[in-house]
Amino acid sequence: MALVTSKEMFQKAYEGKYAVGAFNVNNMEIVQGIVDAAKVEKAPLILQVSAGARKYAKHIYLMKLVEAAMEDSGLDICLHLDHGEDFEICKSCIDGGFSSVMIDGSKFPFEENIELTRRVVEYAHERGVVVEAELGRLAGVEDAVKVAAKDASYTDPDQAVEFVERTGVDSLAIAIGTSHGAYKFAGEPSLDFARLEKISNMLPNFPLVLHGASTVLPEFVAKCNQFGGQLKGAQGVPEDMLLQAGKLGVCKINIDTDLRLAMTASIREHFMTNPEHFDPRQYLKPAREAIQAMVQHKIKNVLNCSGRA
Ligand code: G3H
Ligand code: 13P
Ligand code: ZN
Repeated sequence: MALVTSKEMFQKAYEGKYAVGAFNVNNMEIVQGIVDAAKVEKAPLILQVSAGARKYAKHIYLMKLVEAAMEDSGLDICLHLDHGEDFEICKSCIDGGFSSVMIDGSKFPFEENIELTRRVVEYAHERGVVVEAELGRLAGVEDAVKVAAKDASYTDPDQAVEFVERTGVDSLAIAIGTSHGAYKFAGEPSLDFARLEKISNMLPNFPLVLHGASTVLPEFVAKCNQFGGQLKGAQGVPEDMLLQAGKLGVCKINIDTDLRLAMTASIREHFMTNPEHFDPRQYLKPAREAIQAMVQHKIKNVLNCSGRA
């Protein structure tokens, strides 16, 4: 077992027409739930850390958790920075032991995004670290990603080819209609598969990445809503669309919101039936199991990567 880059994982995923799950981690129970799932399913695994997660849990704790997870499970793991917003945070994660970083220059004009990405690629590749970049803009609101839906713009296929050639980046996140968080579509869910196919054909044997890929299953929304209607109108990406994306050159599928929903639904349900509990282990153990069940479900039904580790 070792900390690995995503290079080989993506090569196999591309050839096998499936995707590797990249799951966001913030604490020990989340790491354990995801890793236990990958171990049972013998699935390739990317654990990703956002700037917010790094701030919440601290870089050193997350590193040690992932080290422990590899030793305990015997799995190879790729440790990835999610949505690095500048050169400095990418450098800090590269120097601090990550095997993969994302430089998200999608908010910048094309030439600036290229310049920034190229700088990170140069620094990362000299140190054996791989880089993901983003071209086009997703809608939705996250800690570090605040893009009004009206400003979202889909990835231009010609620009994607030029971007990859000029930056030397290892993978590219594209915008085809997904968005971050629990509210992805106002009406019928739809992704621009014609655009995805075009980009994929123009970039043969190159791994594409899909952000904002949670499915927001109604069962979990309902459980989270047990104390009120906080998640009214929540809607995610249907699972068949994600399976389809995996066949069209998408090698990495990012999932965070579904883990949050699974964990929160479990904890809320726990307190509905056990209001007298106050030992954190009483509600964090089922929460960890809920994460594991969610990740196993993804590996089998959404990513199609069971048995590919
Ligand atoms: O796309 C962002 C991920 O869901 C991480 O979210 O920045 O709130 O940790 P965060
Ligand atoms: P979701 O909010 O759909 O889970 O997307 C997560 C993501 O893209 C992390 O980078
Ligand atoms: Zn994202």
